[in-house]
Amino acid sequence: MRPEDSLPDIRAHAWSLLVRGGADRKSPIHTPVIASVDADGLPHARVMVLRKADPATSTLRLHTDARSPKVAQLDGKPVAVLAYHPAEQVQLRLSGTARIGRSVGEVDSIWEQSTLFARRCYLAEQAPGTPMPGPSSGLPAWIEGEQPTAEQIMPARANFAVLWVGVTAIDWLHLANSGHRRAMFRASDGWAGEWVAP
Ligand SMILES: Cc1cc2nc3c(=O)[nH]c(=O)nc-3n(C[C@H](O)[C@H](O)[C@H](O)COP(=O)(O)O)c2cc1C
Repeated sequence: MRPEDSLPDIRAHAWSLLVRGGADRKSPIHTPVIASVDADGLPHARVMVLRKADPATSTLRLHTDARSPKVAQLDGKPVAVLAYHPAEQVQLRLSGTARIGRSVGEVDSIWEQSTLFARRCYLAEQAPGTPMPGPSSGLPAWIEGEQPTAEQIMPARANFAVLWVGVTAIDWLHLANSGHRRAMFRASDGWAGEWVAP
């Protein structure tokens, strides 16, 4: 049996990649693709930064602009998360349910933990996706290239939202010359997991 032939070890490995992805900006899992479906049934996918992965609650945390189109597509809706780790040759395809957190108690401490520089993008005057008359960062001119002060950043808080992904399934695929391996884990069967054909 190869080390990757134990389902409990594989599930733990998948979560260790996600945890590292949330903590290490150099990890390829730090920037997964998050996919949603809009009200017309059209799919949308975009890269986002994974901020934290919590195996105990099967939850991922990401940050976004509360005005962005993805918010309506995702809040309370199904979500897919895709990431690939080239060195480990592991693809992770997660599915689950998304929830947007906006409330003061839930979001304020997360907002405060972000650097002022990271919070600066939430000062943009227009919602993401708004047509502009020309090339533009969307930021007010006075803050272009500057780090805002704590006072200057305050109005941006209303534009900040947390995207929670409650993971309900993990599809783990490992590529290897000796034979690929693929396993499916579902919350509905207690995360026991099963082998599937790669
Ligand atoms: C490396 C990278 C990281 C990104 N991280 C985020 C992020 O953490 N949150 C976010 O809302 N958008 C992020 N974006 C921008 C999104 O990919 C997307 O363009 C934007 O959020 C608008 O998406 P929407 O129109 O589907 O709402 C990132 C883009 C790249 C290339």
